[in-house]
Amino acid sequence: MSDRKRVFSGIQPTGNTHLGNYLGAVRNWAARQAEKINTFCVVDLHSLTVPQDPEQLRHETRSMAALLLACGIDPAQSTLFIQSHVTAHAEGCWLLNCVTPLGWLQRMTQFKDKSARQESVLTGLLDYPVLMAGDILFYDADEVPVGEDQKQHVELTRDIAQRFNALYEQEFFVIPQPIIPEVGARVMGLDDPTVKMSKSLADKRGHAVRMLDTPDEILYSFKRAVTDSGREIAFSNDPDKAGVNNLLGIYRAITGQSNAEVEADFANARGYGDLKVRVAEVVIETLRPIQARHRELMDDPAELDRILAHGAAQARAVAQPKVDEMKRIMGLVLPGAADGR
Ligand code: AMP
Ligand code: TRP
Repeated sequence: MSDRKRVFSGIQPTGNTHLGNYLGAVRNWAARQAEKINTFCVVDLHSLTVPQDPEQLRHETRSMAALLLACGIDPAQSTLFIQSHVTAHAEGCWLLNCVTPLGWLQRMTQFKDKSARQESVLTGLLDYPVLMAGDILFYDADEVPVGEDQKQHVELTRDIAQRFNALYEQEFFVIPQPIIPEVGARVMGLDDPTVKMSKSLADKRGHAVRMLDTPDEILYSFKRAVTDSGREIAFSNDPDKAGVNNLLGIYRAITGQSNAEVEADFANARGYGDLKVRVAEVVIETLRPIQARHRELMDDPAELDRILAHGAAQARAVAQPKVDEMKRIMGLVLPGAADGR
């Protein structure tokens, strides 16, 4: 039992959760639960790094927790909680801030991208990867399953952990590995297959398949998906074929088939129109039971609260002692310790 790896991952509650989040991350968390010791977190503090409407944030946080359960995260096998319910995250983030050089944060590509698009950049946005590092490190996680876009943040987490261990001359933090799926790690926008499917663009009709979209909306988005002027339905690295490649990639990730099997499935397809409708169908059927379960959970707030309170207690029992020990290592006086240690 003790050789089971510890897994931690998180997802922001805000914005429209989409098929990329599911195929790149959440589905893989659910699939490997039995083999690992798992902690999954709805990272509401991360969402505050850009301005939010308070009521909407509250609603979306609960909805995201329900969605993770609906996608198969099983509270009997995994700890599932809301980040702000465990105060060790915010507390420990401060401690990590005090060992993290500013230059490391200024170099993060996500910070550079996001801050370039905003007039006023909040301090929290720069500090975002340090909060994320704490999420991972306070649970001694070995593995962090994420989509491709989060790889740099996990690498920064490793750097912060190594720096702390070196400064205080002990193997206090486990050095985590990013786990990027072989398929589904980068689902592209349906309206523009040169940009990744993203929450911030998901309000635009036709860009993303949102997890709670109706079958009609899903079909609409696929029917309008950008392809090319050719006819060939095959995987390809040709930038002109990125649209078809993305559609086939989604189909492959959902069906679990090999490239050759996927291509064989479409050998008799009548053009791209046929391809789009058939990919839409497998997506609709995959999302149907998830959406039904999500509705049930949202209709039973007491049950959702019970699950989240249990998860928070489990998470707190791991993270708070770790942060307390960090405080001691860093020279803070722990309350009630007569000798100051
Ligand atoms: P976020 O929406 O930023 O909280 O991301 C949640 C998870 O989804 C992270 O592990 C991301 O790496 C992953 N993810 C986000 N967008 C995509 C995408 N277009 N394709 C695959 N994975 C993604
Ligand atoms: N930054 C991640 C994202 O946007 C979410 C996240 C926060 C996370 N804390 C984490 C992911 C810890 C993995 C581990 O996708």
